Amino acid sequence: MSVFERYPPLQPIEFRLLRDFVYDRCGLHFDNSSMYLFDRRLGERLAALELDSFAEYYKHLRFSSDAAREFDEAIEVLTTSETYFFRQEYQLRSFEKELLPALAEKNASTKNLVLWSAGCSTGEEAYTIAMMVHRSGLFDDWDVRIIGSDITKSRIAAARRGVYRAGGSFRTIEPTVRDKYFAPHPEGFQVAEFLRQYCQFGHLNLMDRANLAIVGPVDVVFCRNVLIYFDENSRRRVIDNLYRRLVSGGILLLGHSESLLNVSTAFELLHLKEDLVYMKPMRTEARQTL
Ligand SMILES: C[S@@+](CC[C@H](N)C(=O)[O-])C[C@H]1O[C@@H](n2cnc3c(N)ncnc32)[C@H](O)[C@@H]1O
Repeated sequence: MSVFERYPPLQPIEFRLLRDFVYDRCGLHFDNSSMYLFDRRLGERLAALELDSFAEYYKHLRFSSDAAREFDEAIEVLTTSETYFFRQEYQLRSFEKELLPALAEKNASTKNLVLWSAGCSTGEEAYTIAMMVHRSGLFDDWDVRIIGSDITKSRIAAARRGVYRAGGSFRTIEPTVRDKYFAPHPEGFQVAEFLRQYCQFGHLNLMDRANLAIVGPVDVVFCRNVLIYFDENSRRRVIDNLYRRLVSGGILLLGHSESLLNVSTAFELLHLKEDLVYMKPMRTEARQTL
């Protein structure tokens, strides 16, 4: 088939195979109304690979020597990377004004702090956390590690590069904050070196418990605007995986439309001035099986 010809439309059976494969691998749930999305978005991949049908594309995705790279491409076109600096500011204010001082006290003896942006997309959330940690002035001589992880390698590559075009990602940031933490770059602005040093980015699937162990014990997890794309089963698995990574008393922050209702009863609710967050209870540490 030439690249100028339209590939044959996605058949219901092909849609189910592709959708179930994506679900099994990374927990993303697509209902029947997503068939058009699959046809359009994965159709681009079919054309790029010069394949003749979605059945061939499915085989390529499962069995070709390039399967892992193509899976990344598929997830990239099927999911949204939408993110920006200081997203959900009311929650970040609570984090900055209440949680960071509490963590400075809690970890004062070790001077060690690990914060994780799980599902970080192109890195804006991790760098936002870094800016708040830096400007709090509470952790200057500490060992601070901010981890950003995502299932798509291309988004992780963008996060590591730390270059963002003016506009988009900067939509809610104060110009004075931007000028303090970014340097002008031919393509926009680049995160300042001293801030990048806090941050490490890695390719991780939140459904993959064994691989997540690489993250080590974590004080706070931000998993915001990720679970909305999962069904209840996958949410349970991801939340359980995050729970296991949290230290006793560790905190979980979700997106504003996300909650643990029907997902987990393992966390306690912590009422902050402007937000509700989840805390791994202190007493369960002894029972934790890591
Ligand atoms: C909408 S973005 C949210 C970015 C950021 N957390 C925020 O709130 O601005 C959702 C991200 O979750 C990632 N994602 C989806 N499923 C995932 C999985 N199973 N493991 C890791 N990341 C995943 C997607 O690749 C996407 O970059």
